[in-house]
Amino acid sequence: MCAFALRGKTALVTGAAKRLGRACALSLAEAGANVVVHYNRSAAEAEALCADLTRYGVRAWPLPGDLARPEEAEGLLPRARALAGPVQVLVNNASIFDPSRLEDVSFDQVTENAAVNAWAPFALSRAFAAQGLPGRIVNFLDTRVDGYDWPHVAYILSKHLLAALTRMTALEYAPDITVNAVAPGLVLPPPGEDDSYLDRLTGSVPLQRHGTEADIARTVMFLLQSDFITGEVIHVDGGVHLRRG
Ligand SMILES: NC(=O)c1ccc[n+]([C@@H]2O[C@H](COP(=O)([O-])OP(=O)(O)OC[C@H]3O[C@@H](n4cnc5c(N)ncnc54)[C@H](OP(=O)(O)O)[C@@H]3O)[C@@H](O)[C@H]2O)c1
Repeated sequence: MCAFALRGKTALVTGAAKRLGRACALSLAEAGANVVVHYNRSAAEAEALCADLTRYGVRAWPLPGDLARPEEAEGLLPRARALAGPVQVLVNNASIFDPSRLEDVSFDQVTENAAVNAWAPFALSRAFAAQGLPGRIVNFLDTRVDGYDWPHVAYILSKHLLAALTRMTALEYAPDITVNAVAPGLVLPPPGEDDSYLDRLTGSVPLQRHGTEADIARTVMFLLQSDFITGEVIHVDGGVHLRRG
């Protein structure tokens, strides 16, 4: 059986204007897929990326939406479809990553992280499946789901939810749709940090380096094109998950 062909298909990538989402959008366009570039605040970057994507001979559309608002999360796939037609690929990349510790994490932090990082990917996946088309979904987890990330409690709880939803939706949406996940490790510095942040931490990575946007995009593309993998999580973390759990 042939691998899932991306050429001529349409993909929705959330949080695609910058960083890892942008790298995935570029790889999809390079493979011949049209891309709906979802963004929240990065309108200028999303417009610029769409211009870059069309250089691959595909179509690209910027699409705003605040995924912290459940009604916007639920309406995003129908809006993408109205703009671009049927959507056969969904990459749930958008995320918030804010500090919180067990001793002072608030209900609002837990619910906001859950809304953006777990509910929105699920709501998008459900609307995606409701199209009744064969397709591919890739969710973004974090290698830290294998351990206890004490400075980011609300964030990591939301990624645990998304890990559970990845397994549940993989079963629920089979056989037409596969649902897989990548769990990145040390790849890009968080907001407010530069590359020296990565350099300081590479010593803790078994492969003694940090990852790149290309490492992540290649893995996403592999999962999107696979026909016999579903409910799987690939750690793209240089082996860090082996030291956790
Ligand atoms: N970077 C890493 O090394 C690393 C490590 C482990 C896991 N991950 C995971 O990999 C994915 C991508 O990482 P990243 O570092 O590239 O992500 P990021 O830069 O932190 O966030 C990606 C995008 O999410 C969007 N977003 C945030 N809040 C939103 C909201 N309320 N509504 C809609 N969109 C919202 C933002 O869009 P706008 O800019 O348009 O507002 C942002 O550009 C994330 O799921 C992250 O958890 C990354």
